[in-house]
This record gives sequence, C-alpha cells and structure tokens, in this order.
Amino acid sequence: MAILSEEKKRRYHQLKELLQNYSRQYYIFDDPLVSDAEYDSLYNELLAIEQEFPYLKDNNSPSQQVGAKISKKFKKVHHEDRMLSLENAYNENDISDFFNRVHKLCNKSDVDFILEPKLDGLSCSIIYEKGILIMASTRGDGSIGEDVTSNVLTIQNVPKKIPILESVEIRGEVIMLKKDFEELNRQREANNEKLFANPRNAAAGSLRQLDPSITASRNLAFFSYYVSGYDLKTQQDVLNHLKQWGFTVSEHLLLCHDQTEALQFYKKIEKQRADLDYDIDGIVYKTNDLSLQKMMGTATKYPRHSIAYKFPAQQAETTVLNITVQVGRTGNITPVANLKPVTVGGVVVSRATLHNKDEIEKKDIRVGDRVVLQRAGDVIPQILHVISDARSSDSKPFEFPTRCPCCAAPLIREKGEVAVKCINLNCSAQLIERLIHFVSKDAFNIDGLGEQNIKFFFDQGLIKSPVDIFYLENRNSELQLEQVEGWGKQSVANLFSSINRSKNVTLDRFICALGIPQFGKTASKLVAKYFKNYKSFLQSIETKNLSELISVNGIGLSMIDDIKLFFTVPNNLDILKTLGGDISNRGLVNVQDVQMTREGILTGLSIVFTGTLQHLSRDEAKQLGENNGAKISSSVSSKTAFVVVGKNAGSKLEKANELGVKTISEEEFLKMMKKTI
Ligand code: IVH
Repeated sequence: MAILSEEKKRRYHQLKELLQNYSRQYYIFDDPLVSDAEYDSLYNELLAIEQEFPYLKDNNSPSQQVGAKISKKFKKVHHEDRMLSLENAYNENDISDFFNRVHKLCNKSDVDFILEPKLDGLSCSIIYEKGILIMASTRGDGSIGEDVTSNVLTIQNVPKKIPILESVEIRGEVIMLKKDFEELNRQREANNEKLFANPRNAAAGSLRQLDPSITASRNLAFFSYYVSGYDLKTQQDVLNHLKQWGFTVSEHLLLCHDQTEALQFYKKIEKQRADLDYDIDGIVYKTNDLSLQKMMGTATKYPRHSIAYKFPAQQAETTVLNITVQVGRTGNITPVANLKPVTVGGVVVSRATLHNKDEIEKKDIRVGDRVVLQRAGDVIPQILHVISDARSSDSKPFEFPTRCPCCAAPLIREKGEVAVKCINLNCSAQLIERLIHFVSKDAFNIDGLGEQNIKFFFDQGLIKSPVDIFYLENRNSELQLEQVEGWGKQSVANLFSSINRSKNVTLDRFICALGIPQFGKTASKLVAKYFKNYKSFLQSIETKNLSELISVNGIGLSMIDDIKLFFTVPNNLDILKTLGGDISNRGLVNVQDVQMTREGILTGLSIVFTGTLQHLSRDEAKQLGENNGAKISSSVSSKTAFVVVGKNAGSKLEKANELGVKTISEEEFLKMMKKTI
C-alpha cells in the first residue's frame, strides 16, 4: 500500500482549500480567480491523490460536490431531480473509454448518440404548469438552486407559455451572445465599472441579479436541451419537441453511432467555434435512447450516458519573462510581454501585446508575474489578469521608458492620447515599419519584399523611403544584387517583376500605403471612392481642402486632422508626388482611377461569402461584389440577398438554409458579374 507522506497530505489539504475557494468565487461571485484550465489541472491532481488514498475523501471534498454552495440572497428552490454535471473527456482515448462503457452497460455495440455543442453559460431549470412558466432556478449545488423566476421572465427567447398541459421541467443553458458581451463590457469600461472576464461570467452576473430590470437590460438567451415530465423516447425527440414549443435549440447537432463520425463532427465544430455567435467549450455526447439513459443511471456526480468532450483550453497561465517596447510606423510605442511559451487553444504563444502604458498600469503587469492568457478565435492573445497571489514580494512595477528604444529621442504623450510616441520622423524603427506597411497586402502588395528583406535593404542603405523601391532595378547594374548572399538571378528577377507589377495600383491601396494615421484599408477605400482619381486627391491636398472629407460617412474630425497633419510634413508630400506624379509630371507608379460601379446590378443588396472560393481570393470576390454595388456583410440574416458558397462552407451556409436565404455557387456569382472563369 502506498504511504501518504506529510508533504502529500499537506498538498491534498491545500488543493481542497484552493479548489473550494476558486469554486466559491466562480459560482457565487461570478468572478473567477483562475482559468478553467488551471482549475481542471488542480482538480485532476486532487482526484489522483484521492484515488491513491481513498480514505482522505469526505463529503466536503470538491470531488463530491456539483457546482457550489448557493448564495444567500435568493430564495431557495429544491430540484426534484438533482441537476448533475457532466464528466469531461479531454482526448480520443477518453472518448473510446466512454463508447466502450456505454456499449458494455447497454450490452450492445450499435448505440445511437446525439452530439450537441456544450454551451458555455450557466444551467437553468424552468418549470411549466398547465403550459405557464411558474418557476425558474439556477443549478446551485445540484440539489438546491436559487429562484431566479423574475429574471428568467425577462429573457426574450424563453417562452412564457407553451402549448401543452403536462407539468414539465425544461433545462438548458443561459448564455450571453459574444456581441452583447462585448457591448456590455464597452459600456462598463465607459462607466469605470469592473469588466466581466467572459460571456459566461457576464451571463451569470446578469441572471443572478436581485433587480430583474438589470437582467432585462442585459440581453440574455436561453438554449434548451432537456425535458422531463413528458413522454418522449429519444434525445432527438426532446430537441424536436423543444423547438416546436418555441424554445431555442442549438442548430449544430449530429445523430450518429460511430466514433469516427463523431470525431469529425467535434473537429468541424471546433473549427467553426470562433465564428459562432456564442461561446462553446466542447461537444456533449449523449446516448440518444432515453430508456437506455435511464437504465445506465448515474455515478456520484455524473450520468453514465453522456460525456463532455472539451475543446483544448483557450485560456492558460504563464509567466512574463520580460517586457519590451516596439516602435510603430506612426511612432506609437507599444509594450509587448515576452512570455514563457504556453499552448492556448492549440497554438503556442510566447508574446502578447500590452497595448499601451495605461493598460500595463491598469492591470499592474510586471516582469516575473504569473498571468492568465486568453485567445479568442483568431484574435491576438491578450493578458486577462495577473495572479497576484503568486507575485514575489520583491517585484516592482514596470517602468515605462522615457526615451525611444531605437533613436533615444524623448518620448511624448499628447493631451488626451493613450499612446506614448516617438516624434522623431527619422527614427529608423519608424522608417522600417512604414516601409513594411507600404509593401504589405492591403497596400502595394509586393511579393518577395517581406519584413526580412525590407530590413536587409534598409540596413544596406538601399531602401530608405518608398521611392527607393522603384529605383532598385535601375540601380542594379551598380548594386549587383544577385551576387549578395541569399539572393540569386531568379529571386532578383522575381523581385523586380513583382515591384513592376505593383506599379499598377488602385487609388485606395495607394492611399493606404502612405501610412497616414487612422487611414488603413477601410478608410482609404472611402477616401478613394470620394475622390475617384489621383488628380482630384492631389488637388484637394494642394489647395488645402481636405476638410471636404467630412461629408464622407465614416470619416471623422480626428481623422481629418491626421490627414492634414500628415501632408504638412514636406517629405510626405514629396513622396506622394514622386510616386503618383503632379500636375505636369508622371510619377513612378500608375494610380488607377476608381472603377465606377456598374449601375444597378447589386446596388442596395447585402451579400455574404462563405467557404473557400476556387477562382477568386476572398479580397477579390469582395472587391468584385463591391464594384457592382453590393454591400458585403460578414454574417447571414434575413436581410441577406444571397450567400456565395465555396468549398467546406459551415455555419453561414446552415444559417442561410435555416432562414431560407438564397445560396449560389462561386461560378454562378462570376456569371452574374459577367466575368467568365
Ligand atoms: S446535458 C447531466 N447538454 O454543461 C447534465 N449540458 O458540465 C446534463 N451544458 O450542467 C446536461 N451545454 O450546464 C447538457 N448541450 C448540453 C449542454 C450542457 C452545456 C452544461 C450544463 C451542465 C454542464 C455540465
């Protein structure tokens, strides 16, 4: 028999206390202290010790409790059927074990499963009597929850009446859509209120309000997945009936009996996860046949018929190794945290932007701190907060530099601005960043002239301003680039041909390339559309008439200040004219006029692209749609005129089918635009 060392015993009690504390913060105060991943890893450590020394476990152990003790401020509600939790699976082996277990318990190997997304919200039970909603409660500790009836009555998609007379209990998840969560946090930030860590905590904090008018103002939604008190045979029937009765049910479901098929679904939904309107953290596998479910029964905390296959954590903890600052193309100084590499949602992260000086101060992020990282979809990872308990006593606040790390010029911060800036226009870090921006995808899009090569040419003194790029080929008889290490005849020829190709540039890309603060891809398109050709743009600059841009929807006063200021720098105006030309001279490049939209064909229509297109890049397809007057939208609604569907289309296609929105193929779209492949 294993011997319980003093150290292990201490660790066990420490884990128990930590987990109880974390769980209380999470469930009662809706304000988690640690990430889910950290909680799970401590929890698994506790389980391992209990498995080795079962006598340590008592009713007080976190392993014996579902959720948390209920808060005192709400009326208590007793759940007739305990609201259980789900067992977690983290890999395919766990899933294989689950399949084997179910097959064994059912004594057959062809059992149907239904797969549903695991919504990341808080579970809620709603009771209907004679078709009327009479009670709604939270899960609480599984046996006793909190009465949140008045609050649930304010949730718009919860039916207040259903068309049946039986007394039924409906269970499901109360969630907050990602967009509503972002909006709520924006408002809270503006009011200097504490931000919610994620949509789930926002949903919990909004539902568990003593004043229902607060809940009402928060736009919650309810997704249901369970009925009791009504004679149904399968989980599929449950979902169909729920839908018929007016409940919202997840639209991503799969009925299957095969593990490979189930895995494909898990992977498909994981890919779509970032694009869904709400957070999900895994896929729930449920035995479809309800009589089999009943027969299998429950273990201490979990039913044996279902399991939650969790997605890899999107949050993780790591250590800040160092904080450095970067100089951007407009001179803005951005602090960056260099992190001990950690995997978040399947991607190794070793750096995170800290945005600006205020952000570091607000979150009090210091070198050596343990921090919680979050990665939402494709978004750049961000540091959510510091784990202050883990901070060493000699740690010191980060001292923001007062001089530019590149040119040593004093840094300044203008009144009302968040950014600290280096205002030396000749600071080489800025020059390089401006060049990188000039050749980037949304600007001149010069293949073969990436960040590394720009730095190389800059260091060699060959490219100091965008103008030098277009002289490179002429100067090559003296430069002999093909002789330089890393370059050869072919790569040099390729480079010159992409530079030459880039000389035919649309007005919006040309404007974007200039690097005027606040004039990225979208704003540059607006300016180009307004001026229609390079000459009118130049004229407006030279006659100091740029204020006229105020009539453009989407261009504000501070943007106009920036563009005016940009052209007061003589060097910027010179570069513009050398590149684009002036009244009497042609420039180095050929700025194309804005294509007039073809009258009528898609004017006033909103269209959506989804899936991988075969003949056009996404940008080209959008451009083509826009040139024909369409508004390109990123999400499908009943207002969408049609959806252009490429390969492997996912949730947007499903949404279109659900709403009865017309879908067309890429080929049909091209034909419509009269462009043959
Ligand atoms: S079935 C025995 N289906 O996950 C519990 N639960 O970790 C049966 N959840 O308490 C629940 N999405 O709050 C089920 N499609 C889904 C779910 C789901 C989210 C939550 C629910 C449950 C928790 C268990």
